[in-house]
Amino acid sequence: MRIIEYITFDDVVIVPRKAPVDPQYVVLESNITRNHRISVPILSSPMDTVTEQDLAIEMSRLGGVGVVHRNMSKSEQADMIRSVKNASPDFKYLFNTININELDKSNLRSDKPLIITSDDTPTGVYVPTNILSPALIEKIDLVLRLLRTGLVKPSLDNNGKLLVGAAISPFDSKRAEALEKAGADFLVTDIAHLHNIEALSALGKLAKKVSIDIVAGNVGTREAALDILTTVENVSGLRIGISSGSICSTGVVAGASVPTLTAVMNAREALEELGLFGRIPIIADGGIRGPGEAAKAIVAGASAVMSGRLFAGTDEASSLLVRVGGKLYKTYRGMASAGAMKRRHAADRYSRPSKQLEEGVEGLVPYEGPLVKVMSRMFFGLQASLGYAGASRIEEAWNGILARVSPLGAKEINPHDLVK
Ligand code: XMP
Repeated sequence: MRIIEYITFDDVVIVPRKAPVDPQYVVLESNITRNHRISVPILSSPMDTVTEQDLAIEMSRLGGVGVVHRNMSKSEQADMIRSVKNASPDFKYLFNTININELDKSNLRSDKPLIITSDDTPTGVYVPTNILSPALIEKIDLVLRLLRTGLVKPSLDNNGKLLVGAAISPFDSKRAEALEKAGADFLVTDIAHLHNIEALSALGKLAKKVSIDIVAGNVGTREAALDILTTVENVSGLRIGISSGSICSTGVVAGASVPTLTAVMNAREALEELGLFGRIPIIADGGIRGPGEAAKAIVAGASAVMSGRLFAGTDEASSLLVRVGGKLYKTYRGMASAGAMKRRHAADRYSRPSKQLEEGVEGLVPYEGPLVKVMSRMFFGLQASLGYAGASRIEEAWNGILARVSPLGAKEINPHDLVK
């Protein structure tokens, strides 16, 4: 018997290399599927305390993209996709934008803050026209700061509508067809272990019935990635990582796991073997706590990252806001937790009760405020990280280097020796 070694995010650091540009000019545009490219390479997980229409709409407006969960009937999920498609792709709900030359013709008694644009400041200057709450002022400031970079653009389809993904089971081609009809831009398989003969064969059949992109996962080994790519036609992306998520317990209860960083390296190896690396995006899923992990995943070969934990605490997430001991939290649970599985079987009597084992937990995360706060932290943090990696764009970051740190080194890179 051979024991192999896995590497996790905390085992490595990015080796600093000569930056080709100042971090503020680092472009984060990346492919999330073969056919869809977005300006901030981040997807929100299909989880019932994370991505429903509100989060999916705001994710896309802020340059990322949301994947609507499947813990509901297919018609409810299709309705959510339609709501995203019908939403305004800009921030008109937050403020009105007027060009300075149009100012005298406009009605300044706007019920919303006005953003006045000119040739010098195309993304505008903000003029409050009524009394705004400090929270709203902060949100508007953050949105404008992101838009002013000129590098964050809403993620749109060919018709100028917001981009959106939808989760499916590989066994449910009827749902996949309904979601395609509702306007989903891509489908993401949502199964803990796609490397299963039955699941792969079902996905192969499903893939022939729809024409939109399919992101397949989750898998973590080179063999699994090779099997998907050679048995399922037209796979447009790989969802990579097994049991690194903050609410995952698969690694404990089932004793199986491939940490996200190792899983990305394995998938890269498979894609390189087939000459497909760079053409089929790797989405690193699970264990992303901030820009540091996201950047390490990208250097390892990911085109984008997927997270539930980062977004569960935001206003737009479908989690519940609760107050405990005077502090605000939001609920967050694994999709294989007892509560989520109960809801799935109640919502969809055709769902496959393939496993009775709970492989996820339920808990609380601190309340974060609006999504734009988290997306700003990720965007500016990723720009800085890629600068350290010696890259001006995602594809260049794949030439970056990761170095293994000793346990003492890992301790040293965290803030230390402070009284408080
Ligand atoms: P984070 O770290 O963002 O990870 O919380 C989110 C990812 O975790 C996966 N996921 C699960 N994995 N049991 C698991 O083992 C679960 O109940 C579960 N629910 C979600 C999923 O890949 C998600 O994107």
